[in-house]
Amino acid sequence: MRKIEVALVRTKVYELLKEMILNHELKLGEKLNVRELSEKLGISFTPVRDALLQLSSEGLVKVVPRVGFFVVEVNERFISEIIETRIMIETFCLDRYFDEISSSTEVLKIRDEIEEVKRTHDRKLFDDSDERLHKLIVKASSNETITSIYEKLWDKIDLVRHLNERYVVSNEEHKEIVESILARDKERAIESLVRHLKNVENETIKNLPLFEKTER
Ligand code: NI
Repeated sequence: MRKIEVALVRTKVYELLKEMILNHELKLGEKLNVRELSEKLGISFTPVRDALLQLSSEGLVKVVPRVGFFVVEVNERFISEIIETRIMIETFCLDRYFDEISSSTEVLKIRDEIEEVKRTHDRKLFDDSDERLHKLIVKASSNETITSIYEKLWDKIDLVRHLNERYVVSNEEHKEIVESILARDKERAIESLVRHLKNVENETIKNLPLFEKTER
């Protein structure tokens, strides 16, 4: 029984800290004080330390030996590397597995969701359809190696995708991608996807100073 409780606490702490990092309650580059965090959460050091180690293996936390833990620092290079990797994986899958994607029922659900976002400007719904669209493209490969690399990358995508406020525009770009897919226009779908990712990159880099731990 005791063992289960410890494991549960560890998972809870991990999920909580991850959420605090992803919603930028903990700032990018901020030092994470294990003692303070454990006092704040009313638990012992160990689960906090374990959670931070797990987050460091996912690339959201940085460990500096003999100094401590930090929320990962996001700079222009970090963003460009993510986008370059996304373009590589997503356009490859869209090109190679286009028929699987265009004949899936998921793409129809996403189209409806995009229309809903257009009407309501619901950010949470946008986040959901964003994740569904980009993952549909990758998962269509049924290639476990590609999908597991992409899932790992998604944590970093999640970290930076709230660094811009362009979701209404992004939603329009998603619409263009989905419409091209449904019209079976592969070339236009790929072009729209690359343009979308490049736009996200530029806008995110432009907004970066707003999210850094200290003002310049
Ligand atoms: Ni998107």
